Amino acid sequence: MGKGKGGAVMAIVVICQLAAALQCAADAHVVGDSAGWNMNISGWGKNVRFLAGDTILFRYPKGKHNVVVLDMMACGRCYTNHGDKVYTSGDDIFTLKLGPTCFICSFPGHCPNMSLQIFATKQTQKE
Ligand SMILES: *[C@@H]1O[C@H](CO)[C@@H](O)[C@H](O)[C@H]1NC(C)=O
Ligand SMILES: *[C@@H]1O[C@H](CO)[C@@H](O)[C@H](O)[C@H]1NC(C)=O
Repeated sequence: MGKGKGGAVMAIVVICQLAAALQCAADAHVVGDSAGWNMNISGWGKNVRFLAGDTILFRYPKGKHNVVVLDMMACGRCYTNHGDKVYTSGDDIFTLKLGPTCFICSFPGHCPNMSLQIFATKQTQKE
C-alpha cells in the first residue's frame, strides 16, 4: 500500500515539473542581443531556435530606427504599404506566430540590412 501511495506522489511531482516546463517554454529573444536592432543585424538569430509563442524584442534608440512587420513576399524588397503599422517605441515586443515573419526598419536605406526573417516552429516540450 505504501508503495502505491509513493507512486501517486511521484506522478504528481512529474506532472508539476511538466507544467513548469511548459510555462518556461516561451522564450524572450532580444534582437541583436546587447547591440540591439541595428544596421549590422544580419547573422543574428541563425543559431536561435524560435518557437511559436516566443516573444521577440526590438531595442533601439527611439527615432533612429523603427519596426514594420511585413509579409514574406514584401520582405526581400523592403516594400511597405501605407497601411502597415509602424512601431517606434524603441522597445517593441512581438509574439511569434507559427511560420515565417518578416521584420524590417522602414527608414530609407536601412533595409535590407535591417530585415529579419524569423521562422517559428511548433511549440514542443523542451528536453
Ligand atoms: C550592412 O550589412 C553588411 C553585412 O552584415 C555589413 O557589412 C555592412 O556594414 C552593413 N551596413 C551598414 C551601413 O552598417
Ligand atoms: C557586425 O557583426 C559582426 C558579427 O556579429 C561583427 O563581427 C562585426 O564586427 C560587426 N560590425 C560592425 C560594424 O558592428
